[in-house]
Amino acid sequence: DNVRRADILLSSRFEPGSALRAAVARASADGLVASNDRSVRESLPHGLVGPTALLDEIRLSNLRGRGGAGFSTRLKWEACRNAPLKEGQTRIVICNADEGEPGTFKDRVLLTSHADLVFEGMTVAAYAVGATRGFVYLRGEYRYLLEPLQEVLARRRAAGLLGRNILGIPGADFDIEVHLGAGAYICGEESALIESLEGKPGRPRIRPPFPVTHGYLEQPTIVNNVETFACAALIALKGGEWFATIGTRQSTGTKILSVSGDVERPGLYEYPFGVSVAEVLQDCGVTNCIQAVQVSGPSGVCIGQDELDRKIGFEDIPTAGALMVFDCTRDMFDVAHNFAHFFAHESCGFCTPCRVGTQIVARLMDKLASGHGSPYDINEMFKMHRLMQGASHCGLGNTACNPMIDTLTKFKPAYERRLKSLDFVPGFDLDAALS
Ligand code: NAI
Ligand code: SF4
Repeated sequence: DNVRRADILLSSRFEPGSALRAAVARASADGLVASNDRSVRESLPHGLVGPTALLDEIRLSNLRGRGGAGFSTRLKWEACRNAPLKEGQTRIVICNADEGEPGTFKDRVLLTSHADLVFEGMTVAAYAVGATRGFVYLRGEYRYLLEPLQEVLARRRAAGLLGRNILGIPGADFDIEVHLGAGAYICGEESALIESLEGKPGRPRIRPPFPVTHGYLEQPTIVNNVETFACAALIALKGGEWFATIGTRQSTGTKILSVSGDVERPGLYEYPFGVSVAEVLQDCGVTNCIQAVQVSGPSGVCIGQDELDRKIGFEDIPTAGALMVFDCTRDMFDVAHNFAHFFAHESCGFCTPCRVGTQIVARLMDKLASGHGSPYDINEMFKMHRLMQGASHCGLGNTACNPMIDTLTKFKPAYERRLKSLDFVPGFDLDAALS
């Protein structure tokens, strides 16, 4: 059954170096590298032949980014590989481990239990694009992972899987540093992350140009999510066709979901793409009636009871993996109120629509919560939503009003309850505003 649980990443017993060996096994046949490592020369799985063949496997796999947006990994890696280098430049591989989306905790577990798989995926990526330098940008709140990760890196260096002449291949040089964030949600946005890595305040850049051509210190850079690198390592090991048989046509492979909220067994669940939200809930154990599931955190989508058959995948609900479950006892206004304050707190303050807009929306929600709100305030919220969506500098401002608009549209009574005695804007039509 293609949509039942499949712990491919979470249960992988991965031998460090195996994916890399597979990736370079027939590289000498490609005329690209000559390895002194016997185990490299002797292992010939999947006919992988150097960077070109590795990129072919990534193309066959149809791997798409696991951070939420689902951009084609092959296109990203090829664009980086083809980007010209100026004097003294190199290519860079960045693992985005700034897992800040509320409700998402899968990258933390991957880095805790499968760090070798992630580092190997980064090294495979470096091999494919010709990078020599790598960074893991680790969320500040995950500081406790710093030492264990550095131990894994040291072990990999000692095993010849990082550093100079990896696997005995002359010139195959690549190493990884772990850089700690400082708790800013916006640094999960790739260009803000790069600014932060460069020692500047974490503010999103204007894109394009994308990091693949102008990234860390203006060098060609790929930024991928932790889970994407883990997938890439398994693709290098087992081949792109194997990967493409899992999931759906447009969303191949599996997705790790972080499930929290009103379920009996919260935690990490891994499924082939195409699984429905209802199937996931069934596995997590639901006792009460479900009112809503917030998919992808506050910047994502809030689905109601009648939408639980919707599928996790880029053709329906794309997600970095957060599923926050709310049963029928929850007040969805309170949920949106909380998210409004989250965005007001996390706005980086660079552009006015978001810096001011998120504060105004949070105050409007405070006013409604205190029982002093009116339909006028809801109308104002819609106006702010349109303004911020059109004029904000980055995705945070563009999506900051989503939770309010979603809950207003789908759980109107939660708002109406607070307006009952205060309907003092004659002629205001909530339904018209919602449409
Ligand atoms: P995006 O669609 O702008 O870009 C996605 C990736 O594709 C980026 O790496 C970008 O550089 C690359 N890309 C896009 N067009 C390109 C082109 N023409 N050439 C080369 N590369 C190109 O999405 P964005 O703004 O980077 O991320 C938004 C997503 O992040 C949302 O889906 C959101 O849900 C998710 N998100 C995830 C969080 C987490 O903790 N994992 C936190 C907050 C948001
Ligand atoms: Fe900063 Fe918000 Fe503007 Fe993005 S939209 S640059 S987070 S102020």
